[in-house]
Amino acid sequence: MNSQSLSVREAILERRSVGVFNKQPVDAQDILDIINDAVWAPNHKNRQPWRVILGIGEGLPKVLDIIRDVTIPNHAHLTAEDIEHKMTKFLSPGAYAFVVVPEDLRQHERTEDFAAASCFIQNMMLLAWDRGIGSIWKNPTWLDSPEFTEAIGAKPGERVIAMVQLGYFDKVPAKKTRKTAEEIVTFFGE
Ligand SMILES: Cc1cc2nc3c(=O)[nH]c(=O)nc-3n(C[C@H](O)[C@H](O)[C@H](O)COP(=O)(O)O)c2cc1C
Repeated sequence: MNSQSLSVREAILERRSVGVFNKQPVDAQDILDIINDAVWAPNHKNRQPWRVILGIGEGLPKVLDIIRDVTIPNHAHLTAEDIEHKMTKFLSPGAYAFVVVPEDLRQHERTEDFAAASCFIQNMMLLAWDRGIGSIWKNPTWLDSPEFTEAIGAKPGERVIAMVQLGYFDKVPAKKTRKTAEEIVTFFGE
């Protein structure tokens, strides 16, 4: 087992969504190690309803090409600088993890699978944080577009539920606010 420095509580409390990474490459083995631990997420009937399409190393520019094509559909007339500018927010992560979930035809199971995959994603983000790798779950509308899903390699009957950007960063983002337990809990019967 990897030596881990943060307690579960510390990881949960200290993790921040990272919006700006420093372009430092991420080692694919680190992400595989993270995923090998993250798969211990709860999931009904052990269906393990997730797989990951990882854009890292030589695959990273190919992922960026796909993102460029879906986010700037008419870029043929633009200069390289214009395209770079429009792509800025996508260029700093060291890796992209697209989490893919089977679209069970049964509504109940489909909801369970989405929930389980969300637990898996949170595990990934906490484990990455523990290694000094920041992350953010992004859910742009084009994740569901046939153009994107086909280009990224999702199969018919699968849905890409998350684009997780991963990478090293220079600045820990500011803490956001949360409602307290006292604000969100209703004691039944009172
Ligand atoms: C399902 C889901 C979708 C999200 N989609 C986006 C997104 O599209 N763009 C974005 O900037 N952040 C996205 N986030 C990250 C949230 O903005 C972030 O978690 C929230 O601002 C709280 O910040 P924190 O994670 O640092 O506490 C998403 C998070 C979740 C769980």
